[in-house]
Amino acid sequence: MKIFLDTANLDELRAAAKWGIVDGVTTNPSLIAKEGKPIKEQVAAICDIVDGPVSAEVISVEAKAMIAEGRELAKVHKNIIVKLPLIRDGIEACSALSKEGIRTNVTLCFSPAQALLAAKAGAYFISPFVGRLDDVGATGMDLVRQIVAIYENYDYETQVLAASLRGPLHVVEASLAGAHIGTMPFKVLDSLFNHPLTDKGLEQFLKDYNKAFAK
Ligand code: G3P
Repeated sequence: MKIFLDTANLDELRAAAKWGIVDGVTTNPSLIAKEGKPIKEQVAAICDIVDGPVSAEVISVEAKAMIAEGRELAKVHKNIIVKLPLIRDGIEACSALSKEGIRTNVTLCFSPAQALLAAKAGAYFISPFVGRLDDVGATGMDLVRQIVAIYENYDYETQVLAASLRGPLHVVEASLAGAHIGTMPFKVLDSLFNHPLTDKGLEQFLKDYNKAFAK
């Protein structure tokens, strides 16, 4: 499974990029707003740090305006993926931009039927929101499993990007479910490293070595 960072924060991206395991970035209007810079400027800076797909979301909600905004965002960098909400106009914009060769990420997906529409519209990524479904008492990961099965049934090329992943278990479950990509906040990625037996084992190795060779 590819790992994307769900952040627009440049310090977090620089820190994680050093590990060499970040395949791409997702942003949304809330994450961009937190950084205080206009979207084009912020995503251009992100593209300088991470060499992979970077999702930049449109703000318009009418197809015509979404298409125009998507074209502008796509011009910022070759790695930009235009993110569109899963509403009627978003699907219309997805169909139009896909036909022009502009890659899209259809976001705010909460049902397998919605995911089917995105695939038919030529979406490059579909983003099911796992954590937000868990928040309302559903099993968010079931949605990822259903979308993977539907896309496999018909050989859709749309990649399943499991989003709203809130902890290490979500990441593991998304990869078991066959998601192509999991996007996660920096703190979730960082938590994937942790295991007490790793720390304990390393401490013992160093202690033994130093005891044997210390003068
Ligand atoms: O970027 C979309 C998604 O990953 C947001 O996650 O935790 O705000 O539901 P969350």
